[in-house]
Amino acid sequence: MASHADNRARRPAAQVWRRRVDDHLMLYPPSPLARSSRPAAGILSTIGHTPLIRLARLLPGTPFEIYAKLEGHNPGGSMKDRPALRMVREAMKSGLINRRSVLVESSSGNLAVGLAQVCAALELRLTVVVDPKVTQANLKILRAYGADIDMVSTPDPDTGEYLAARRKRVTHLVQTVPGAFNLNQYTNPGNPRAHREGTVAEILDALENRLDWLVVSISTCGSLRGAREAIVDRGLDTRVLAVDAAGSVIFGQRGTRLLPGHGAGTVPEHMADGLADEHALVTDAQCVAGCRWLVQREALLAGASSGGIVATLHRLQARWPAGTRVAAILPDRGERYLDTVYDDAWCERHFGAVPRLDGLNAERRPVDAESIPTSFAELDS
Ligand SMILES: Cc1ncc(COP(=O)(O)O)c(C=O)c1O
Repeated sequence: MASHADNRARRPAAQVWRRRVDDHLMLYPPSPLARSSRPAAGILSTIGHTPLIRLARLLPGTPFEIYAKLEGHNPGGSMKDRPALRMVREAMKSGLINRRSVLVESSSGNLAVGLAQVCAALELRLTVVVDPKVTQANLKILRAYGADIDMVSTPDPDTGEYLAARRKRVTHLVQTVPGAFNLNQYTNPGNPRAHREGTVAEILDALENRLDWLVVSISTCGSLRGAREAIVDRGLDTRVLAVDAAGSVIFGQRGTRLLPGHGAGTVPEHMADGLADEHALVTDAQCVAGCRWLVQREALLAGASSGGIVATLHRLQARWPAGTRVAAILPDRGERYLDTVYDDAWCERHFGAVPRLDGLNAERRPVDAESIPTSFAELDS
Protein backbone atom coordinates (compact mmCIF):
# COMPACT_ATOMS: atom_id res chain seq x y z
CA MET A 1 0.00 0.00 0.00
CA ALA A 2 1.34 3.46 -0.90
CA SER A 3 2.19 5.55 2.16
CA HIS A 4 1.49 9.26 2.47
CA ALA A 5 5.21 9.90 2.01
CA ASP A 6 5.24 7.95 -1.30
CA ASN A 7 2.21 9.90 -2.45
CA ARG A 8 3.86 13.20 -1.58
CA ALA A 9 6.94 12.26 -3.57
CA ARG A 10 4.77 11.75 -6.65
CA ARG A 11 2.98 15.12 -6.35
CA PRO A 12 3.22 17.46 -9.35
CA ALA A 13 4.06 21.16 -9.08
CA ALA A 14 1.17 23.40 -8.00
CA GLN A 15 0.40 25.02 -11.39
CA VAL A 16 0.63 21.71 -13.24
CA TRP A 17 -1.76 20.15 -10.74
CA ARG A 18 -4.19 23.10 -10.97
CA ARG A 19 -4.26 22.80 -14.76
CA ARG A 20 -4.98 19.09 -14.59
CA VAL A 21 -7.72 19.61 -11.99
CA ASP A 22 -9.28 22.37 -14.07
CA ASP A 23 -9.33 20.03 -17.05
CA HIS A 24 -11.46 17.66 -15.00
CA LEU A 25 -13.67 20.12 -13.16
CA MET A 26 -14.44 22.54 -15.98
CA LEU A 27 -16.16 19.66 -17.68
CA TYR A 28 -18.56 19.08 -14.82
CA PRO A 29 -21.48 18.93 -15.30
CA PRO A 30 -20.47 16.93 -18.36
CA SER A 31 -20.80 18.64 -21.68
CA PRO A 32 -22.92 16.88 -24.29
CA LEU A 33 -19.56 16.06 -25.85
CA ALA A 34 -18.87 13.60 -23.05
CA ARG A 35 -21.87 11.55 -24.17
CA SER A 36 -21.33 12.00 -27.87
CA SER A 37 -19.09 9.98 -30.13
CA ARG A 38 -16.32 12.55 -29.53
CA PRO A 39 -13.69 11.65 -26.92
CA ALA A 40 -14.41 12.83 -23.34
CA ALA A 41 -11.80 14.84 -21.45
CA GLY A 42 -11.36 12.52 -18.50
CA ILE A 43 -13.19 9.99 -16.39
CA LEU A 44 -14.93 12.55 -14.14
CA SER A 45 -16.60 14.17 -17.12
CA THR A 46 -18.53 10.91 -17.62
CA ILE A 47 -20.23 11.10 -14.21
CA GLY A 48 -23.96 11.72 -14.52
CA HIS A 49 -26.25 11.75 -17.53
CA THR A 50 -26.95 8.07 -16.96
CA PRO A 51 -29.55 6.30 -19.11
CA LEU A 52 -33.24 6.35 -18.24
CA ILE A 53 -34.91 3.27 -19.68
CA ARG A 54 -38.45 2.02 -19.87
CA LEU A 55 -38.94 -1.31 -18.11
CA ALA A 56 -41.60 -2.67 -20.41
CA ARG A 57 -41.24 -6.30 -19.34
CA LEU A 58 -40.82 -5.90 -15.57
CA LEU A 59 -44.47 -6.33 -14.60
CA PRO A 60 -46.29 -7.53 -17.69
CA GLY A 61 -49.98 -6.87 -17.78
CA THR A 62 -49.84 -3.86 -15.45
CA PRO A 63 -51.31 -0.70 -16.93
CA PHE A 64 -48.68 1.73 -15.63
CA GLU A 65 -45.33 2.83 -17.08
CA ILE A 66 -42.12 2.11 -15.21
CA TYR A 67 -38.82 3.86 -15.92
CA ALA A 68 -35.43 3.14 -14.36
CA LYS A 69 -32.52 5.51 -13.94
CA LEU A 70 -29.44 3.32 -14.32
CA GLU A 71 -27.00 4.86 -11.85
CA GLY A 72 -24.71 1.84 -12.17
CA HIS A 73 -23.64 3.41 -15.47
CA ASN A 74 -21.59 6.01 -13.61
CA PRO A 75 -17.89 5.22 -14.05
CA GLY A 76 -17.37 4.20 -10.39
CA GLY A 77 -20.41 1.93 -10.64
CA SER A 78 -22.97 3.79 -8.54
CA MET A 79 -24.98 6.96 -7.98
CA LYS A 80 -22.51 7.93 -5.23
CA ASP A 81 -20.05 9.13 -7.89
CA ARG A 82 -22.27 12.21 -8.11
CA PRO A 83 -22.10 13.37 -4.46
CA ALA A 84 -18.42 12.36 -4.30
CA LEU A 85 -17.56 14.70 -7.18
CA ARG A 86 -19.93 17.40 -6.02
CA MET A 87 -18.62 17.52 -2.44
CA VAL A 88 -14.97 17.60 -3.55
CA ARG A 89 -15.66 20.24 -6.16
CA GLU A 90 -17.50 22.52 -3.72
CA ALA A 91 -14.82 22.09 -1.03
CA MET A 92 -12.14 23.03 -3.58
CA LYS A 93 -14.07 26.02 -4.87
CA SER A 94 -14.62 27.37 -1.36
CA GLY A 95 -10.97 26.83 -0.42
CA LEU A 96 -11.67 24.20 2.25
CA ILE A 97 -9.30 21.76 0.57
CA ASN A 98 -6.29 22.14 -1.68
CA ARG A 99 -3.62 19.89 -3.18
CA ARG A 100 -2.00 19.32 0.21
CA SER A 101 -5.26 18.17 1.83
CA VAL A 102 -5.86 14.62 2.99
CA LEU A 103 -9.51 13.67 2.68
CA VAL A 104 -10.67 11.37 5.47
CA GLU A 105 -13.99 9.60 5.07
CA SER A 106 -15.80 6.86 6.94
CA SER A 107 -17.40 4.59 4.35
CA SER A 108 -16.76 1.14 3.00
CA GLY A 109 -19.29 1.24 0.22
CA ASN A 110 -20.20 3.13 -2.91
CA LEU A 111 -19.36 6.62 -1.58
CA ALA A 112 -15.83 5.46 -0.71
CA VAL A 113 -15.36 4.03 -4.21
CA GLY A 114 -16.72 7.20 -5.82
CA LEU A 115 -14.46 9.35 -3.68
CA ALA A 116 -11.42 7.16 -4.35
CA GLN A 117 -12.05 7.63 -8.07
CA VAL A 118 -12.41 11.42 -7.76
CA CYS A 119 -9.29 11.68 -5.57
CA ALA A 120 -7.27 9.52 -7.96
CA ALA A 121 -8.31 11.71 -10.90
CA LEU A 122 -7.53 14.95 -9.03
CA GLU A 123 -4.33 13.61 -7.41
CA LEU A 124 -5.69 14.16 -3.91
CA ARG A 125 -4.86 11.95 -0.97
CA LEU A 126 -7.69 9.96 0.60
CA THR A 127 -7.85 7.87 3.76
CA VAL A 128 -10.92 5.67 4.00
CA VAL A 129 -11.87 4.54 7.50
CA VAL A 130 -13.44 1.07 7.32
CA ASP A 131 -14.33 -1.73 9.73
CA PRO A 132 -13.89 -5.51 9.47
CA LYS A 133 -17.32 -5.85 7.78
CA VAL A 134 -15.97 -4.23 4.59
CA THR A 135 -16.03 -6.62 1.63
CA GLN A 136 -12.70 -7.81 0.22
CA ALA A 137 -13.85 -6.69 -3.23
CA ASN A 138 -14.39 -3.09 -2.08
CA LEU A 139 -11.08 -3.06 -0.20
CA LYS A 140 -9.31 -4.14 -3.38
CA ILE A 141 -11.11 -1.51 -5.45
CA LEU A 142 -10.21 1.24 -2.96
CA ARG A 143 -6.56 0.18 -2.91
CA ALA A 144 -6.50 -0.04 -6.70
CA TYR A 145 -7.55 3.62 -6.88
CA GLY A 146 -4.68 4.43 -4.48
CA ALA A 147 -6.69 5.21 -1.33
CA ASP A 148 -5.12 4.56 2.08
CA ILE A 149 -7.14 2.21 4.27
CA ASP A 150 -7.53 2.80 7.99
CA MET A 151 -9.25 -0.19 9.62
CA VAL A 152 -10.88 0.12 13.05
CA SER A 153 -10.59 -3.28 14.69
CA THR A 154 -13.11 -3.13 17.53
CA PRO A 155 -16.62 -1.66 17.90
CA ASP A 156 -17.06 1.50 19.94
CA PRO A 157 -16.99 0.47 23.64
CA ASP A 158 -19.86 2.90 24.53
CA THR A 159 -22.34 1.82 21.84
CA GLY A 160 -21.03 -1.56 20.69
CA GLU A 161 -21.24 -0.30 17.07
CA TYR A 162 -18.56 -0.09 14.40
CA LEU A 163 -20.12 3.05 12.88
CA ALA A 164 -19.51 5.00 16.09
CA ALA A 165 -15.94 3.64 16.23
CA ARG A 166 -15.32 4.76 12.63
CA ARG A 167 -16.70 8.23 13.31
CA LYS A 168 -14.47 8.62 16.36
CA ARG A 169 -11.48 7.50 14.28
CA VAL A 170 -12.31 10.12 11.62
CA THR A 171 -12.47 12.82 14.31
CA HIS A 172 -9.10 11.67 15.64
CA LEU A 173 -7.49 11.70 12.16
CA VAL A 174 -8.92 15.14 11.34
CA GLN A 175 -7.43 16.48 14.59
CA THR A 176 -4.01 14.84 14.22
CA VAL A 177 -3.13 14.48 10.51
CA PRO A 178 -1.88 17.74 8.95
CA GLY A 179 -4.25 18.91 6.19
CA ALA A 180 -6.90 16.31 7.01
CA PHE A 181 -10.47 17.19 6.01
CA ASN A 182 -13.72 15.26 6.37
CA LEU A 183 -16.35 15.90 3.68
CA ASN A 184 -18.97 13.99 5.72
CA GLN A 185 -21.66 12.85 3.31
CA TYR A 186 -24.16 12.65 6.22
CA THR A 187 -24.27 16.42 6.68
CA ASN A 188 -22.72 17.84 3.49
CA PRO A 189 -25.34 19.76 1.41
CA GLY A 190 -23.40 18.78 -1.73
CA ASN A 191 -24.80 15.25 -1.29
CA PRO A 192 -28.51 16.12 -1.82
CA ARG A 193 -27.58 18.90 -4.27
CA ALA A 194 -25.88 16.37 -6.56
CA HIS A 195 -29.21 14.55 -6.88
CA ARG A 196 -31.42 17.65 -6.94
CA GLU A 197 -29.51 19.17 -9.86
CA GLY A 198 -28.29 15.88 -11.35
CA THR A 199 -30.03 12.52 -10.95
CA VAL A 200 -33.57 13.76 -10.35
CA ALA A 201 -33.40 16.80 -12.63
CA GLU A 202 -32.27 14.47 -15.45
CA ILE A 203 -35.24 12.13 -14.81
CA LEU A 204 -37.74 15.00 -14.81
CA ASP A 205 -36.20 16.53 -17.95
CA ALA A 206 -36.32 13.19 -19.78
CA LEU A 207 -39.98 12.70 -18.84
CA GLU A 208 -40.88 16.33 -19.56
CA ASN A 209 -41.94 16.77 -15.91
CA ARG A 210 -44.71 14.20 -16.31
CA LEU A 211 -44.10 11.83 -13.40
CA ASP A 212 -46.59 10.52 -10.83
CA TRP A 213 -44.27 8.60 -8.50
CA LEU A 214 -40.52 8.64 -7.91
CA VAL A 215 -39.13 5.63 -6.03
CA VAL A 216 -35.80 5.96 -4.17
CA SER A 217 -33.98 3.70 -1.77
CA ILE A 218 -32.48 5.42 1.25
CA SER A 219 -29.44 5.50 3.49
CA THR A 220 -27.93 8.98 3.99
CA CYS A 221 -31.22 10.26 2.49
CA GLY A 222 -29.17 12.50 0.15
CA SER A 223 -31.05 11.24 -2.91
CA LEU A 224 -34.42 11.39 -1.10
CA ARG A 225 -33.82 15.01 -0.06
CA GLY A 226 -32.54 15.89 -3.55
CA ALA A 227 -35.65 14.28 -5.06
CA ARG A 228 -38.05 16.27 -2.91
CA GLU A 229 -36.16 19.52 -3.56
CA ALA A 230 -36.11 18.98 -7.35
CA ILE A 231 -39.87 18.33 -7.33
CA VAL A 232 -40.52 21.46 -5.26
CA ASP A 233 -38.19 23.50 -7.54
CA ARG A 234 -40.43 22.66 -10.48
CA GLY A 235 -43.74 22.97 -8.65
CA LEU A 236 -44.71 19.39 -9.54
CA ASP A 237 -47.08 17.12 -7.66
CA THR A 238 -44.90 14.04 -8.19
CA ARG A 239 -45.05 11.88 -5.08
CA VAL A 240 -42.03 10.20 -3.54
CA LEU A 241 -41.91 6.62 -2.28
CA ALA A 242 -38.88 5.88 -0.07
CA VAL A 243 -37.75 2.26 0.19
CA ASP A 244 -35.90 1.49 3.42
CA ALA A 245 -34.29 -1.74 4.61
CA ALA A 246 -36.13 -3.75 7.25
CA GLY A 247 -33.87 -3.40 10.30
CA SER A 248 -32.95 0.21 9.45
CA VAL A 249 -34.04 2.89 11.92
CA ILE A 250 -34.99 5.52 9.30
CA PHE A 251 -38.53 4.16 8.98
CA GLY A 252 -38.33 0.92 10.96
CA GLN A 253 -36.79 -0.60 14.03
CA ARG A 254 -33.19 -1.61 14.54
CA GLY A 255 -32.53 -5.15 13.40
CA THR A 256 -30.00 -7.36 11.67
CA ARG A 257 -29.28 -6.56 8.02
CA LEU A 258 -27.09 -8.60 5.72
CA LEU A 259 -26.98 -6.56 2.53
CA PRO A 260 -25.11 -3.25 2.31
CA GLY A 261 -26.10 -0.02 0.54
CA HIS A 262 -29.51 0.98 1.83
CA GLY A 263 -30.74 1.48 5.40
CA ALA A 264 -29.05 3.18 8.36
CA GLY A 265 -28.32 2.49 12.02
CA THR A 266 -28.96 6.12 13.03
CA VAL A 267 -31.41 8.56 11.44
CA PRO A 268 -29.24 10.66 9.09
CA GLU A 269 -29.14 14.45 9.24
CA HIS A 270 -30.46 14.81 5.66
CA MET A 271 -33.71 13.08 6.68
CA ALA A 272 -36.71 15.28 7.55
CA ASP A 273 -40.48 14.94 7.87
CA GLY A 274 -42.30 15.32 4.59
CA LEU A 275 -39.46 14.28 2.26
CA ALA A 276 -41.28 11.03 1.46
CA ASP A 277 -45.00 10.80 0.78
CA GLU A 278 -44.92 7.09 1.55
CA HIS A 279 -42.38 4.51 2.55
CA ALA A 280 -41.92 0.77 2.29
CA LEU A 281 -39.64 -1.64 4.16
CA VAL A 282 -37.90 -4.49 2.35
CA THR A 283 -36.14 -7.51 3.82
CA ASP A 284 -32.84 -8.94 2.57
CA ALA A 285 -34.76 -11.85 1.04
CA GLN A 286 -37.08 -9.47 -0.84
CA CYS A 287 -34.04 -7.62 -2.21
CA VAL A 288 -32.60 -10.89 -3.52
CA ALA A 289 -35.95 -11.88 -5.02
CA GLY A 290 -36.30 -8.45 -6.66
CA CYS A 291 -32.77 -8.56 -8.09
CA ARG A 292 -33.33 -11.97 -9.59
CA TRP A 293 -36.68 -10.92 -11.03
CA LEU A 294 -35.07 -7.81 -12.56
CA VAL A 295 -32.23 -9.69 -14.25
CA GLN A 296 -34.59 -12.37 -15.55
CA ARG A 297 -37.21 -9.94 -16.85
CA GLU A 298 -35.08 -7.06 -18.04
CA ALA A 299 -31.54 -8.48 -18.32
CA LEU A 300 -30.46 -5.88 -15.77
CA LEU A 301 -27.88 -7.03 -13.22
CA ALA A 302 -28.34 -4.59 -10.34
CA GLY A 303 -27.38 -4.25 -6.68
CA ALA A 304 -29.38 -5.24 -3.61
CA SER A 305 -31.21 -1.96 -3.04
CA SER A 306 -32.44 -2.00 -6.65
CA GLY A 307 -33.90 -5.42 -5.89
CA GLY A 308 -35.69 -3.88 -2.90
CA ILE A 309 -37.26 -1.32 -5.22
CA VAL A 310 -38.36 -4.01 -7.68
CA ALA A 311 -39.89 -6.09 -4.86
CA THR A 312 -41.78 -2.97 -3.72
CA LEU A 313 -43.10 -2.23 -7.22
CA HIS A 314 -44.14 -5.88 -7.53
CA ARG A 315 -46.00 -5.66 -4.19
CA LEU A 316 -47.75 -2.39 -5.02
CA GLN A 317 -48.55 -3.09 -8.66
CA ALA A 318 -52.28 -3.51 -8.09
CA ARG A 319 -52.74 -0.04 -6.62
CA TRP A 320 -51.58 2.13 -9.52
CA PRO A 321 -54.23 2.95 -12.12
CA ALA A 322 -53.68 2.84 -15.87
CA GLY A 323 -51.50 5.62 -17.17
CA THR A 324 -49.60 6.13 -13.89
CA ARG A 325 -45.96 6.96 -14.55
CA VAL A 326 -43.42 5.61 -12.09
CA ALA A 327 -39.66 6.18 -12.18
CA ALA A 328 -37.13 4.46 -9.91
CA ILE A 329 -33.50 5.28 -9.23
CA LEU A 330 -31.50 2.03 -9.39
CA PRO A 331 -28.38 2.95 -7.36
CA ASP A 332 -25.73 0.45 -8.50
CA ARG A 333 -24.72 -2.55 -10.59
CA GLY A 334 -24.85 -6.19 -9.55
CA GLU A 335 -21.24 -7.31 -10.01
CA ARG A 336 -20.26 -6.46 -6.41
CA TYR A 337 -23.11 -8.70 -5.18
CA LEU A 338 -22.14 -11.88 -7.04
CA ASP A 339 -21.04 -13.57 -3.80
CA THR A 340 -24.28 -12.71 -2.00
CA VAL A 341 -27.46 -11.77 -3.89
CA TYR A 342 -26.59 -13.85 -6.96
CA ASP A 343 -24.98 -16.79 -5.14
CA ASP A 344 -27.43 -19.68 -4.63
CA ALA A 345 -25.37 -21.27 -1.84
CA TRP A 346 -25.22 -17.95 0.06
CA CYS A 347 -29.00 -17.58 -0.31
CA GLU A 348 -29.65 -21.11 0.87
CA ARG A 349 -27.40 -20.55 3.87
CA HIS A 350 -29.22 -17.38 4.92
CA PHE A 351 -32.80 -17.93 3.73
CA GLY A 352 -33.09 -21.71 3.37
CA ALA A 353 -33.75 -21.36 -0.39
CA VAL A 354 -33.25 -18.82 -3.17
CA PRO A 355 -35.97 -16.19 -2.55
CA ARG A 356 -38.33 -15.56 -5.48
CA LEU A 357 -41.15 -13.12 -6.10
CA ASP A 358 -44.50 -14.75 -6.77
CA GLY A 359 -44.99 -15.76 -10.34
CA LEU A 360 -41.37 -15.48 -11.49
CA ASN A 361 -40.98 -18.98 -12.81
CA ALA A 362 -44.66 -19.50 -13.63
CA GLU A 363 -44.72 -16.51 -15.96
CA ARG A 364 -41.38 -17.20 -17.60
CA ARG A 365 -41.72 -17.72 -21.30
CA PRO A 366 -39.44 -17.38 -24.31
CA VAL A 367 -39.29 -13.91 -25.81
CA ASP A 368 -39.15 -13.32 -29.53
CA ALA A 369 -36.06 -11.10 -30.00
CA GLU A 370 -37.83 -9.24 -32.79
CA SER A 371 -40.51 -8.12 -30.36
CA ILE A 372 -38.12 -6.40 -27.94
CA PRO A 373 -38.57 -2.66 -28.33
CA THR A 374 -35.38 -0.75 -29.03
CA SER A 375 -36.64 2.82 -28.98
CA PHE A 376 -39.11 5.05 -27.16
CA ALA A 377 -41.01 5.51 -30.40
CA GLU A 378 -41.60 1.77 -30.60
CA LEU A 379 -42.57 1.58 -26.94
CA ASP A 380 -45.11 4.34 -27.27
CA SER A 381 -46.67 2.91 -30.41
C1 LIG B 1 -26.55 0.70 -3.21
C2 LIG B 1 -27.14 1.89 -2.52
N1 LIG B 1 -28.46 2.03 -2.49
C3 LIG B 1 -29.04 3.07 -1.86
C4 LIG B 1 -28.29 4.04 -1.24
C5 LIG B 1 -28.99 5.18 -0.52
O1 LIG B 1 -28.67 6.44 -1.07
P1 LIG B 1 -28.63 7.76 -0.19
O2 LIG B 1 -27.35 7.74 0.58
O3 LIG B 1 -28.70 8.87 -1.18
O4 LIG B 1 -29.81 7.74 0.72
C6 LIG B 1 -26.90 3.93 -1.26
C7 LIG B 1 -26.03 4.91 -0.59
O5 LIG B 1 -24.86 4.73 -0.42
C8 LIG B 1 -26.30 2.85 -1.92
O6 LIG B 1 -24.96 2.69 -1.97
